[in-house]
Amino acid sequence: MKKKILVTGGTGYIGSHTAVELIGDGFEVVIIDNLHNSEADVVDRIHQITGVKPHLEIFDICNKESLDSFFTANKDISAVIHFAAYKAVGESVRKPLEYYQNNLGSLINLLGAMKEAGIPGLVFSSSCTVYGQPEELPVNEQSPLQPAESPYGNTKQIGEQIIRDTTRAVSTIKAIALRYFNPIGAHPSALIGELPRGVPENLVPYITQTAYGLRDELKVFGDDFNTPDGYCIRDYLHVVDLAKAHVVAVKRLIEGKNKSDFEMFNLGTGIGVSVLEAIKSFERATGVKVNYKVTDRRPGDIEKIWADPSLANRELGWKTLSSLDEAMLTAWNWEKKIRSNKG
Ligand code: NAD
Ligand code: UFG
Repeated sequence: MKKKILVTGGTGYIGSHTAVELIGDGFEVVIIDNLHNSEADVVDRIHQITGVKPHLEIFDICNKESLDSFFTANKDISAVIHFAAYKAVGESVRKPLEYYQNNLGSLINLLGAMKEAGIPGLVFSSSCTVYGQPEELPVNEQSPLQPAESPYGNTKQIGEQIIRDTTRAVSTIKAIALRYFNPIGAHPSALIGELPRGVPENLVPYITQTAYGLRDELKVFGDDFNTPDGYCIRDYLHVVDLAKAHVVAVKRLIEGKNKSDFEMFNLGTGIGVSVLEAIKSFERATGVKVNYKVTDRRPGDIEKIWADPSLANRELGWKTLSSLDEAMLTAWNWEKKIRSNKG
């Protein structure tokens, strides 16, 4: 019998790519999503890629009653991957209460429902934002967590603490937090990708929309940082590489290979790339120029961060395979395809 995995936020960007990889690995996928930042037809696109249409339940995980009745009907779930959250650093500075409410409310409900239903494994979407602005780079899992620079980052720090306390208190629940660096790109089929509602908050969708002509210019948030070229530095990894790490993490929990009740892993390439270098990579990979203008810094932004991914390389047997240019090309192919479909 196929093991059943609940993917919350599974019609979203990373969740949909992970659903594809899980199905490809022989898992049954059930998705809960309230479609706050995604479309229901993503499950049809997953079907087109994999030949299997995952079951989608549309409701808000902050609604405890709905979540509890879902688990009552689905006690055979082997593990949960919890993607559902709001994710934009800048927006979280403007709307802190919404971020605390959604990101922490959903997690607390989920852990409570897992405890009641006896569901054993949780993979949590964490973020390199938990490190705040690190004093030493690259960051590894032992690096001290600095104060979060944004309410969003704080929800991930607190989320990890909630999980740590819960795994200590509830012996049935084991968890893995995956601290993503910056996922970009799209599935090579160009059937799924990042499709933010409204004006994109993240860099790469803003680049692709500007290149496509949907936006006049990309605003680059500052060029006076303490970095070699003055632009912010991130560690951009291909979303398909990231998705594959979730399959490994889920198997680790199901097979009981975890070394403690709550583990955490950095998921990145180990390479720091500036915003300017990211723009140049897009231009090199696609042959399309990006119209950009440097503006003020964005509140809540971290100046520079990149991963030491060696723990994930060693323990999970996982590493990134795609280059930055390859990832940029898939992001562009996705943008073109989705726009041409929309007419
Ligand atoms: P996304 O917005 O594309 O996907 C999140 C999905 O969750 C959306 O489909 C949304 O509709 C759904 N959702 C949100 N709140 C919900 C709720 N209360 N109930 C039900 N569904 C809900 O985002 P993503 O980029 O796929 O990110 C997934 C996870 O990874 C998030 O937890 C995010 O914080 C984390 N993360 C993302 C990045 C990134 O750069 N994309 C980096 C680090 C961590
Ligand atoms: N940037 C711009 N212009 C834009 C958008 C972004 O210059 O229009 C810059 C930002 O200032 C930053 C870099 O591009 O220097 C990356 O910004 P993103 O918004 O794409 O990514 P963040 O690093 O701020 O945050 C993202 C996700 C978080 C996640 C984090 C992990 O939104 O959910 O990556 O690093 F936690």
